[in-house]
Amino acid sequence: MPDAPARSEPPYRARLDAVRDTLAGLGVDALIVTHPPNLRYLGGFDGSLGALLVTSSECSLIVDGRYITIAKERAAASEGLRHLRVELAPRSIEEGIASEWARTKAAAVGVEGAVMTLDRFTRLQSLIPARFVTTERVVEAARMIKDHGEIEVMRQAARMLSAAALEALAAVRPGRSETEVALEVELALRRAGFSKPAFDTIVASGPHSALPHARPGTRVLTAGDGVVLDFGGVYDGYCVDLTRTVQLGPASGSFRRIFDAVREAHAAAIAVVRPGIAASAVDTAARDTLAARGLAEAFVHGTGHGLGLEVHEEPRVTRPGTARDEILRPGMIFTVEPGAYLPGVGGVRIEDDVLVTASGCEVLTSVPIDLEGDGAASGRHRGLGEEPAGD
Ligand code: GLY
Ligand code: MN
Ligand code: MN
Repeated sequence: MPDAPARSEPPYRARLDAVRDTLAGLGVDALIVTHPPNLRYLGGFDGSLGALLVTSSECSLIVDGRYITIAKERAAASEGLRHLRVELAPRSIEEGIASEWARTKAAAVGVEGAVMTLDRFTRLQSLIPARFVTTERVVEAARMIKDHGEIEVMRQAARMLSAAALEALAAVRPGRSETEVALEVELALRRAGFSKPAFDTIVASGPHSALPHARPGTRVLTAGDGVVLDFGGVYDGYCVDLTRTVQLGPASGSFRRIFDAVREAHAAAIAVVRPGIAASAVDTAARDTLAARGLAEAFVHGTGHGLGLEVHEEPRVTRPGTARDEILRPGMIFTVEPGAYLPGVGGVRIEDDVLVTASGCEVLTSVPIDLEGDGAASGRHRGLGEEPAGD
C-alpha cells in the first residue's frame, strides 16, 4: 500500500489571500466558512464541524471540544497556519463565531449560500448585528485550480485507482451478484491505499446498466450482460473517479454499437481539452459525437465534473449556457464521462480523470478501454484462483 507522499505544506496563506481578494471585490468584510472541504482547504481542519471567520487581516478557526487539541496542535506545527486563531466554542459553533465577530465588528458578513442552512443562518442573524450577504462559491473558485502539491496527490491517487480498476474488472464474472462485485471493488480500493470510497460504488449489469446511477443489487451477472463499474477513492483527502463498461460474452452487436459511440465521444472530448476553451466545449465534443451516432437522447447527463476535496466540484463540464460554465485553466482537474443509456438494451459509460496543462491535458487515469475487458482478462488470470469468466 503506498504511503501518503511527503507533501510540502499546502500554501494556506496564498489560498487565504485569493479568498480575501474575492471578498474585497464583493465588498464583504468577513466570510463565515462552514463547508467542511473549505475548512480543510483554508485551515487544514478535517473535523466534521467547525467554522472559519475570515477578515482582511485575521482568520479564526472555531471548533468544539472534540477538535480543539488537534486543531491547535496542527496550527502550531504548520508554518502556513501560524496566523490562525484557534478558538474553542464552549456552547455552540454559532456562539463561537459571534464572539470572534465581536472582536472584528465586520459590517458586511458573507455566508456560503450553497451550504448554510436556514436554521443556522437564523441563529447567526440573532447573534450578530451585521449585514449578512450571501456569497457563491468563493472558496470553491480558488479550489478549482489545483496547486502543485494537490496535483501530485491526485496523480498518485489516479495511479492507485487505475491499479484498483484492473482488480475490480477481474471480479466481473458470471455467477456473481452486483453486490458481490461491488464488495470486491471496495476491497481493491482499500488494498490500493484509499482511505475510503469517494462515493457509493456502482455495479450495474444487464438492464440495470441503462440506469446511470444504479445501486448494486442482488442481480446475478450472466453471459451477454453489459456491466458498468463506476467507483472512486479518497486519498489524502482527494477524490478520484473512474468508470469502465465491459460485456460478458457473447458480445451483442447492439451493445457494441453503443460502446463504440461512447468510446468515440470520450476520445473526442479529451481531444479538445486545453486552456482557454469553455468547459462546455468539452461537453459539446462528446454530445455531438453521440448525436452523430443517433444517441443524442441517450446521453442524459453532463460530460464531467471537477474533482478534488469533493468528488463533484467545479468546474462542471456540461451544456453551454449555464451560469457555471468556466473557461478551462491549467491546474483544473475534472472527469470526462460520456454515456449512453437505452432502456431495454443497456447502458455504457466511460470515465477518466484529466488535468488541464499549459498546452492541453494529461489523462491521469490509465486503464484499457475494451468492451471484452482485456484489462479484466489479464487480471482474471493473474492468480486470483478462480475459473475464467467463460466469455
Ligand atoms: N458516480 C459518480 C460519478 O461518476 O460522477
Ligand atoms: Mn464515476
Ligand atoms: Mn464522475
